Amino acid sequence: MVDIGEDTNTKRSINAISGPSISTNTLANNKWFGHICYMYEKDAKKFMHLQWYQHGSKILLQETAHPQALFLTDECDDVLIESIYQKANLRVLGSTEEEPPVAPDTEENSFYTGLRWDKQNHAFFERTEEKRQQVLQFCKCGKPCESCGQKRLLKERQHWTVKDDVLRQGDVHYHIHDFVYIRPAIPKTDVYIIGQIIRIHRGAREKAHTVDIRVFERYDLVARLEKKSQFAEHETDQRRLFRTGKVYENENVSAIEGKLYVVHSASLSERKLEKWVSHDDHFYVDLQSKSSRPKQVDFLEDLPLKTFKRCEECYGARRELLEIQKTLEAQHEPLRGLELFSGAGGLSAGLDQSGFVKTKWAVEWTTSAAMSYAANHPETVVYNQCVNACLKHAVDTEEGKSPEPLPSLNKRVREKLPPMPKPGEVDFIYGGPPCQGYSKMNHHKFFLLENVDGLFDFNSNAEQNGNRTVGGYKMGAVKFILSAMISLGYQIHFRLLNAGQYGAPQSRLRVIFLGAKRYLPLPMFPIPTHCTADDVYKRKLPTGDTLYPLVRFRPYDADLTNALVHLQYAPLLPVTVEDAISDLPKFDWIDPHVVFASTDNDLSEIGRRHLQGIKRFSVVPDPDADSIRPYCGYNKKTPYVHEPLNRYQRWIRSGSDQVAYHYTARFRSNIVERTVWVPLVPDANYTTLFRRIDGKGQFKTALTTVNPNCKTGHVLHPTQKRVITVREAARAQGFPDSWEFVSEQTIPAKIIQDQFRQIGNAVPVPLALALGKSVGSALVSMWQEDDLREQVGREHSPEVPMNIE
Ligand SMILES: C[S@@+](CC[C@H](N)C(=O)[O-])C[C@H]1O[C@@H](n2cnc3c(N)ncnc32)[C@H](O)[C@@H]1O
Ligand SMILES: [Zn+2]
Ligand SMILES: [Zn+2]
Repeated sequence: MVDIGEDTNTKRSINAISGPSISTNTLANNKWFGHICYMYEKDAKKFMHLQWYQHGSKILLQETAHPQALFLTDECDDVLIESIYQKANLRVLGSTEEEPPVAPDTEENSFYTGLRWDKQNHAFFERTEEKRQQVLQFCKCGKPCESCGQKRLLKERQHWTVKDDVLRQGDVHYHIHDFVYIRPAIPKTDVYIIGQIIRIHRGAREKAHTVDIRVFERYDLVARLEKKSQFAEHETDQRRLFRTGKVYENENVSAIEGKLYVVHSASLSERKLEKWVSHDDHFYVDLQSKSSRPKQVDFLEDLPLKTFKRCEECYGARRELLEIQKTLEAQHEPLRGLELFSGAGGLSAGLDQSGFVKTKWAVEWTTSAAMSYAANHPETVVYNQCVNACLKHAVDTEEGKSPEPLPSLNKRVREKLPPMPKPGEVDFIYGGPPCQGYSKMNHHKFFLLENVDGLFDFNSNAEQNGNRTVGGYKMGAVKFILSAMISLGYQIHFRLLNAGQYGAPQSRLRVIFLGAKRYLPLPMFPIPTHCTADDVYKRKLPTGDTLYPLVRFRPYDADLTNALVHLQYAPLLPVTVEDAISDLPKFDWIDPHVVFASTDNDLSEIGRRHLQGIKRFSVVPDPDADSIRPYCGYNKKTPYVHEPLNRYQRWIRSGSDQVAYHYTARFRSNIVERTVWVPLVPDANYTTLFRRIDGKGQFKTALTTVNPNCKTGHVLHPTQKRVITVREAARAQGFPDSWEFVSEQTIPAKIIQDQFRQIGNAVPVPLALALGKSVGSALVSMWQEDDLREQVGREHSPEVPMNIE
């Protein structure tokens, strides 16, 4: 413990004396805490080198911090020995130990520590002993300090060198014919430039190394600009590249932000190519053009296989890595998942698709959503019950109270529900709203909490005063989730993610908390794969710090106040509304002409649209017909009229050969007439209601209710005279076409309401899939380390006969 000095970080020093950061432990308010790494003498003065701890109250936990908890940071300083106030009594928690309970009469100088605090990434994390040793290797001799070591390691990792035509950044090697992502010259969010290294030039200094690259362009940039029809019906493919005649000379290496892998499509079978492009950072090429922006895709020529070059060393290494991962995956079972607040199952659909998770239990209290869930997951035990009741039941059972079985809330079935999984049976818990009950179930290894970004504005303990909330802990919900999970022995971090940046055709934000027990690797957040117009989601935190967006690469010494270092460049173009739904059968609502009579113009337009294959369906209610055709559109499953036009459509169709739920509700004639009159141009509207979606953009609103005349009604189809269908809403959220949306209702208007609600409530499947892959990467790295340890153990073990073949 040392006396408080002057904190050069002014935000932090202001926060330290602010109300929410004052701890009941006065030492926490009046002293600083550090770990003495080493001591030395200079100019007849005695110094120590301290690695700092932070008390929980002075970081994001604020009011929710445990009075006795300290967190080690990667910050350090030289401090005069005479500033020592006294020795801090600090106990280090074992990696499976829970936080001791808060006890009011605890001695003030009695601290414990377990997790570390990464202030840049707002992460409470554990550094394994192996990692710690690795970090310490970067320290100068006789000056062991993890914090100094970590800083040097980060610097080394980003250090560029050139030797014998090999360009290195840390452990990454770039060769001639390797493919790289290059940050675009104009600093605004965009896709990366994709280039193939053709020459490497050694500069006099590190910052002066350069490369010459040949530009490979995205096929889709040409296809999207070429306007064949009103509703782009040409095929696109986000993984397809063409080689251009454009070469950038002397591109500074600091513009390189990573590697990608490109094959020539003729070198792989169709099936293998599909598998290839299912991985991040994988592309293929089959075409070429002198120009980098030809006006039509027809101007592109075939690229002969023999003229395509790639770096065989890196390609081979990549294939080997994929093989190892595949083998590891096959050797291990997926995590057994329990999904809370499951809705119709968007989150688990994505997590399960990653292959690393298998949802075995799900809890959802609305009967319709629980029915949908069960219909799509025949192997999952679905509890149509309240989450809290289920968790209480589990805890009571665990405590030997033998509670009565819970009844299903399904009024028609009223069955007794099976017991909840026992501790140890669940590996991974995930779900929606934060819930007290989570903390009663702490035997799982991993957890994921998702919520809308409104969670950030939610102050706990606040009081309602008229329509304002007053008082309370600022961002209380976030702080409580963090401190509750930390107290149970989990590492945790959180981010605001935009579903569109993971390949969903919508720009919606979700707050995600990811956690893992301390003895396990903490999964990283997935780095954006798609660029969207709405990037950079900064949020001010109550400590005065900022939550920054995730980027692929950030210089270790970046000035975080510079907005340019937070631009979210990504490899792939956004998935647009058109991309998501352009292959579906087309139809217009029939204009009832109640107010305006039909004209000749109307008639000829109908003829024109008929020729474009646009059908017409009556939408106003008709008591005679509605029992057979309760909805407007395709009441029954109908064949696709197109082949899939892009990768998104192919992915979402997999397993189904027909379109279901391609219908809208029925509406009164005045609403219908207004809707069909809205011009067929992006964002056209009637009195700001009846808004038309921009086909080239992304879905914006939550699609829980699809009414043209409601405030959130950004729901008119981009080119057809109607609102979007249930199927189109499901496509917006990434639900597979085979997904069933069931309802306990019997009245059609209520059933369709239920279907939209289940869809709109979901976590977009592509985002969930990206999160599943991230959890998977953490598992793979753990399995690899386990294997390695086992191998080393075996080599050192005398029982193993050394001459075995
Ligand atoms: C935002 S949705 C989550 C959707 C889901 N994660 C998905 O991706 O499809 C929240 C769901 O929690 C359900 N819910 C809310 N409170 C509940 C409770 N106490 N017990 C069980 N389910 C609850 C709601 O009915 C709703 O379906
Ligand atoms: Zn240091
Ligand atoms: Zn290479």
